[in-house]
Amino acid sequence: MNSLLCNTSSSPCTKRLKDKVAIVTGGASGFGESTVRLFTQHGAKVVIADIQDELGTFVCQDLVSKFGNDCVMYIHCDVSKDSDVKNLVDTTVSKYGKLDIMFNNAGISGDSNGTILNSSVENFKRVLDVNVLGSFLGAKHAARVMIPEKRGVILFTSSVVSVVACGTTHVYTASKYSVVGMMKNLCVELGEYGIRVNCISPYGVATPLLVNALGMEKAVVDECVRASAVLKGVAPTVEDVAMAALYLGSDESKFVSGVNLVVDGGYSIVNQSLITEIKRSMS
Ligand SMILES: NC(=O)c1ccc[n+]([C@@H]2O[C@H](COP(=O)([O-])OP(=O)(O)OC[C@H]3O[C@@H](n4cnc5c(N)ncnc54)[C@H](O)[C@@H]3O)[C@@H](O)[C@H]2O)c1
Repeated sequence: MNSLLCNTSSSPCTKRLKDKVAIVTGGASGFGESTVRLFTQHGAKVVIADIQDELGTFVCQDLVSKFGNDCVMYIHCDVSKDSDVKNLVDTTVSKYGKLDIMFNNAGISGDSNGTILNSSVENFKRVLDVNVLGSFLGAKHAARVMIPEKRGVILFTSSVVSVVACGTTHVYTASKYSVVGMMKNLCVELGEYGIRVNCISPYGVATPLLVNALGMEKAVVDECVRASAVLKGVAPTVEDVAMAALYLGSDESKFVSGVNLVVDGGYSIVNQSLITEIKRSMS
């Protein structure tokens, strides 16, 4: 995780988010945590929004010790609750004066039993509440403060399952397709106000979400991901997503909107089943 961080005392990196204010939902763990760390290191003031208060506070304190008091804060926020998300955005604006980047990243996988006959209605609603309603509420409250300013960036985390079936549950896949659809719709509506809207769709990375969903050891998940990758020689990490968010959140992507940036090393563009069968029959 620290590999992307510059040495804070000599900081050789260009601060690509200087003077920006960002919210990262799900910022206490996984992709969100990595993004919080990278955004902070690049000069942004960052608000970590999560329901894991202990973890979120720990990340916050760790960054304060490196970058100073004013650079980051933690707010408890259940993204599926309208009042929590409203409070998140309002508190951010009252503390830092504005909101430049809203990264709607929090998500859950839900129950791992994926068959249609075993899927429960309760689980279906819960996954949609967090992954879809949570993203919607984040975008809505961000747009509320960005529209008058006529600028801003709204990002979402979808998944590689939004472009290729990966054996995940129906509701998880449905939720991630929904996020991409919502991103495209918002891109059109909010483009009117100079607000860019994009999505990041990561490949599998052994975060707590994936490790718990598969019920495997982290090392086994890492190995499955490595073995199935199209791009060999590099293992996908949370930092790859953070780097994508850095690009999409910064002014370097000032004419990029409506994109579902798939960070999967080419996994989703090939159907390997025929190739695998041919190789097996020839061996
Ligand atoms: N790990 C993967 O392989 C993978 C692949 C593609 C997409 N994703 C997506 O990436 C995003 C981040 O997941 P991750 O893999 O970093 O997992 P993670 O479990 O490490 O992080 C998810 C964070 O979201 C928080 N969260 C959950 N419900 C919340 C709620 N109601 N309100 C606020 N915060 C909440 C959790 O507390 C956690 O800190 C998710 O949207 C996930 O669906 C993950």
